Amino acid sequence: MELQGKTALVTGASRGIGPYIAKSLARKGFSIIAVARNESGLQKTKLEIESFGGICHTQPYDLMNINGLDGFVNDLWSKHGPFQILVNNAGVEYYQHFDRLSKEEISLILKTNLHGPLELSRSILPKFIEQKSGHIINIASLAGKKGVAYNSIYSASKAGLIMWSDGMRQEYKDSPVNISVICPGFISDAGMFHDGQEPPPPLLGSSHPQKVADAVLKAIRKGSCEIIVNSGPIRPLLALGQISWKLADAILRCFGVPALSRKRISV
Ligand SMILES: NC(=O)c1ccc[n+]([C@@H]2O[C@H](COP(=O)([O-])OP(=O)(O)OC[C@H]3O[C@@H](n4cnc5c(N)ncnc54)[C@H](OP(=O)(O)O)[C@@H]3O)[C@@H](O)[C@H]2O)c1
Repeated sequence: MELQGKTALVTGASRGIGPYIAKSLARKGFSIIAVARNESGLQKTKLEIESFGGICHTQPYDLMNINGLDGFVNDLWSKHGPFQILVNNAGVEYYQHFDRLSKEEISLILKTNLHGPLELSRSILPKFIEQKSGHIINIASLAGKKGVAYNSIYSASKAGLIMWSDGMRQEYKDSPVNISVICPGFISDAGMFHDGQEPPPPLLGSSHPQKVADAVLKAIRKGSCEIIVNSGPIRPLLALGQISWKLADAILRCFGVPALSRKRISV
């Protein structure tokens, strides 16, 4: 895809990894539509993009308002459209024992991480098909490839996002629309893991948020279906999990993943 003069909608662009994705796309010549709830966070991203001559429009929106998405997209399209890239990056996580989560907390995680991206994409897809160009990039997580204790709803939401992307990619294979999913491991320097202020398990390490932004650019360049962003090779462990979940669980315990998750439980 020729990038200059194109437009990308990036959700979750007010803090964390989202601003890295928005800035990287802007540096490549995309105009950015930055979406999140926090207006001052969005303004910060806009100023950073404008500081190197990029273009960024901000649009505050709560993605939990799923019924409003069609109107939101039509409004954006008439103001800033057409756009060619949708990065479903907004997300939340909440460490807790499953049986201590409220219905509202479970619904918030599932809506923000899965139902919202799916419905936002459904609102945009007909426009991508009509203009014969479009790429949906979903930011999932390694937590969607192997379940995480005390974060099981987050894992379920990200596993859903990965499988939805997989199904969609096959379904729209002969269409002009591409679907990619990116699965980061622990991310340092910014974002929800960094905010938790716990060091990553030494054997797993962490990656800089720019690596996620680079993966988005790679997905656009190559039309990749799935990219894992992790400090070391993790696919062998994921493959092992398909053969023996007991062994994969034991390795994760050795790495200290459940112990780290337990520390992150909100009290
Ligand atoms: N950080 C990591 O280690 C890591 C690892 C794997 C995957 N990921 C994934 O990467 C993505 C970005 O995470 P992050 O680490 O950057 O998280 P973050 O720092 O907590 O930022 C989350 C972003 O999502 C937005 N958001 C949350 N709820 C929203 C809502 N209802 N409506 C609109 N926007 C909403 C937030 O904006 P407002 O609060 O302003 O609305 C914020 O911009 C997420 O999907 C996350 O699951 C992160």
